[in-house]
Amino acid sequence: MNRTLTAGLLALSLLTSAQGSLHAQENYVPSQEILESRTRFQDRKFGIFIHWGVYAMLGNGEWNMQVNNLNRDEYRHLAAGFCPSKFSAAEWVSAIKASGAKYLTITSRHHDGFSMFHSKASSYNIVDATPFGRDILAELAQECAAQGIELHLYYSHLDWDRDDYWPLGRTGHGTGRTEHGEWSSYAAFMERQLTELLTGYGKIGCIWFDGVWDRDEFPREKQPELWGLYGQYELIHRLQPGCLIGNNHHLLPFGGEDIQIFERDIPGQNEAGLSGQEISPLPLETCQTMNGSWGYRMSDMNYKSSDELIRYLVRTAGMNANLLLNIGPRADGTLPEQALERLKAMGEWLAENGESIYGTRGGIIEPQPWGVTTVKDNKLYVHILDLKENTLNLACGKNKLRGASLLSTGEKVACRQAKDGTVTLSFPEAPEGVDCIVVLDFKKTLQP
Ligand code: GLC
Repeated sequence: MNRTLTAGLLALSLLTSAQGSLHAQENYVPSQEILESRTRFQDRKFGIFIHWGVYAMLGNGEWNMQVNNLNRDEYRHLAAGFCPSKFSAAEWVSAIKASGAKYLTITSRHHDGFSMFHSKASSYNIVDATPFGRDILAELAQECAAQGIELHLYYSHLDWDRDDYWPLGRTGHGTGRTEHGEWSSYAAFMERQLTELLTGYGKIGCIWFDGVWDRDEFPREKQPELWGLYGQYELIHRLQPGCLIGNNHHLLPFGGEDIQIFERDIPGQNEAGLSGQEISPLPLETCQTMNGSWGYRMSDMNYKSSDELIRYLVRTAGMNANLLLNIGPRADGTLPEQALERLKAMGEWLAENGESIYGTRGGIIEPQPWGVTTVKDNKLYVHILDLKENTLNLACGKNKLRGASLLSTGEKVACRQAKDGTVTLSFPEAPEGVDCIVVLDFKKTLQP
């Protein structure tokens, strides 16, 4: 066979297999392994997000490059000064574990293009470009495995540094990317990095994409092709068949995706303006900041209180979603004390009340101004967050009630069930505290 013919046949077979996989992901049927991962994911309920990169040195958030039009050649010099001398994977993971969170999602590469892992696809990475020279991702992966925390990886589709990220999207026009490179080269680069991430760091629970909104002038249906999503999803599911895929594109999920992400809002709410999309049947996750920033921002001391965060976790669980709560570590490798205090408080609360959160699903009653419900087997957990009266009516349908008690003390709560199924709880006075949890014990497994 002559060379041209061989090359032609090779190209043809690659094309057909690429089309095959395109098709497979478009009409995605999740494997049994993925279905099990999804269930475990939903059971875990609470994860910690970490946004960390060389931007931490400037103390002005992870969007600094775009916000202040920082030239990428200048910005790159940050790397040679990045030496997080106080970084300890063991301390981070212990603090995360103590918070009651079950997984950690960390930025492996953010929009600034700097890789926080030892990548052979680009020397602009934490090992080759910094005096620190340590692969923090490898250290975290090892520590997560040792402490039983699942590792998830954030990966940015958008890149404000590379020339081959072209055509440009709507952000990062002031960073000095000049040579109009090739999308195919950028796509190959991402494929190499994803392969590194999925083959070099043990079991990865989820790949969490971000940045597709950079090209949101194109309609939703064009996005998978623009970004080569189906090929990437196929690669991920092939390299780690149990690895979930999420994409923070603020759209209804595409084939191949396993969770639906909401940014800064509980599904169904849209205060931040990024969450107008419908709620899909996939497992849900809300990511939220502890203060107002993702990456470390020195001026942002506007932390939500521990009680607010606990209530946010509860409301998220009541909407059947997981909470991914963010921390932006400092450039020296420490987690801010304000964050550590909140992790501790959430952990103490979960140690007492975790039964009403872990392994539950959104309850049979829609979220209400007074609070939410979560459900597990034949138990309905009524989370009273803000009730001004001392009685509460709950429409429980055909489910027959056996009794009600406080989760904290086991003390009985006065209750009666009317013929139409409505359960009325009566308290000596209006319940107080961060979350008064009443456990309703039903005769049978609850049916929504
Ligand atoms: C947004 C931001 C990004 C952040 C992400 C977290 O998409 O661009 O900086 O990482 O939200 O949800």
